[in-house]
Amino acid sequence: MVYRTIIEPFRIKSVEPIRLTTPEEREQILQRAHYNLFLVPADDVMIDLLTDSGTSAMSAEQWAGIMRGDESYAGSRSFTLFEQTVREIFGFKHVIPVHQGRAAERILFALLCKPGCIIPNNTHFDTTRANIEYRGGQAVDLPCAESRQTTTPHPFKGNMDVGALERLIEEVGAERIPLVMMTVTNNSGGGQPVSMANIRAVSAVCRRHGVPFYIDACRFAENAYFIQRREAGYANQSVREIAREMFSYADGCTMSAKKDGLANIGGFLCTNDDALAQMEKELLILTEGFPTYGGLAGRDLEAMAIGLQEVLDEHYLEYRLASVRYLGEHIAREGVPIVQPPGGHAVYIDAGLMLPHIPPLHYPGQSLVVALYREGGIRSCEIGSVMFARHDPDTGAELPALRELVRLAIPRRVYTQSHIDYVVEVILEVYRQREQLRGYRITWQTPFLRHFSCHFEPLS
Ligand code: F0G
Repeated sequence: MVYRTIIEPFRIKSVEPIRLTTPEEREQILQRAHYNLFLVPADDVMIDLLTDSGTSAMSAEQWAGIMRGDESYAGSRSFTLFEQTVREIFGFKHVIPVHQGRAAERILFALLCKPGCIIPNNTHFDTTRANIEYRGGQAVDLPCAESRQTTTPHPFKGNMDVGALERLIEEVGAERIPLVMMTVTNNSGGGQPVSMANIRAVSAVCRRHGVPFYIDACRFAENAYFIQRREAGYANQSVREIAREMFSYADGCTMSAKKDGLANIGGFLCTNDDALAQMEKELLILTEGFPTYGGLAGRDLEAMAIGLQEVLDEHYLEYRLASVRYLGEHIAREGVPIVQPPGGHAVYIDAGLMLPHIPPLHYPGQSLVVALYREGGIRSCEIGSVMFARHDPDTGAELPALRELVRLAIPRRVYTQSHIDYVVEVILEVYRQREQLRGYRITWQTPFLRHFSCHFEPLS
C-alpha cells in the first residue's frame, strides 16, 4: 500500500508556545509598527512566514553538535568537520566561513566589483543587489521569459535568459563583467528552480568569455530535488550527486546556511581561485574573524556541518516541497493568484493581480501583508515595489517593480499541517474581502533596503 499522506519525517521533542492575539490587539500593534511588519515584535505574531532564513528547527543531532563544538581560536576541530563537509558536497577548493550570506557577498564584491562594473544574475536578491550597488556596480536581472507569466506553470521558471546574457556581454564587453551569478532557487523570482541544462548553458557562456561563474547557493538542496523530480535524465540520481554536478559548472559560490544549512546562523564563500581565496581571507580577518571561524562560534560550524548533511535527506525534501505545494494548491484552487507552480521554500501571491484596484505605487503587496496580519496574525513579506522600486535617474520619480508579490516563506521543520490549514483559511477570508483593501503611502524611509524600516500610512 502506498499512502497518500506525506508525513513530517520527524517528531517534536521541544516546543515553543504561540501567543494568540485578537484582531483588535493586532490593529493597535500595526499602528505602533507604522504598518511595517518588520517592526512588529515576534511575540505578537501567531504564524511567522516572514522568512525561511535562520528560522529552521534544529535536529537533536545538531543540538548535540552545539555541545561538541570546539571553540579554539585557530584550527578548531569543528572547522575541520565543516570544511570537509562543504568540500564533499560542493566540491570547491577553498571554503571560507562567514556569519551569513551577505558577509560572503560583501567580501566577494569588495574584491571583484569596481565602479561601473555589471553583474548579471537570474534575479538578484535584495542584499546581493545592494552590496553591488554599494560598490558602484550595476546589478542586472536576466530572468527567463516564462518567469513573467505569473500564473502559467513551467518546471524551471528560475532559469536565466541565456540569449539575454550573451547579448549583454556583447554589448558591454566581458571586461566590464567581473562575474555572473545564478541564484538557486530563484528567490525573488518566486522560489523557482533552475534546471541543470540552464546552469550548464550559462557556465558555457561564461567560460567562453573568460568570466567567472558563481552560484548563490542558499537553497541548493531544494533546487537539486526539483531537478531530480522534473528534469529528464536525473530521476535516478541522488540529490547529493545532482548538487555536486550543479556546483561542478561554477567557479565558486556564496551561501547562507540559514536556509538549506538548517542552521540559525552561518554561511560561507567558496572559490577554486587560490589568489582570490588569499585576498578573501585577508578581508575576512579584517571584519569577520580568523579563517577557521569567520565570525562564528565553533558550535555554529558544527550545526552547519550537520545541517548540510540532513538537508540532503530525500524524505525530508519530499516532505518539505509537499508542504509548500499543499499551501499553494489550496489557495490557488479558490482563485488566489499565485506564482505557479509553488516554489521550494515559499508560496508567492501576486498582489498586483489580486488587488488590481490598488496602483503599484500604492503598494498592493503591503496592503495584503497588513491584511493577513490583521485578520489572522500571519506575518508575510512584500516583494514588490516597497522592496524593489527604482528611481528614474533624470527625474528622481519612483518607478514600480516588475511585479507586486507577497511571499509566504515556510520555515524548515517548524510548522505542522494544521498551522498550514489555518493559514489557508485566513488567506481565503482576506481574498473574499479583497475589494475593501486600500493602498499605503510611505511616510519615512532610508536610501538602501528601505523595506526593513520604512513607515507607512493607510490611504483613505
Ligand atoms: N541570497 C539569497 C537568494 C537570499 O535569499 C538571501 C537571504 C541572501 C542571499 C542573504 O543571506 O540573509 O544570510 O545574509 N534571504 C533571506 C530571505 C533574508 O528572507 O529570503 P543572509
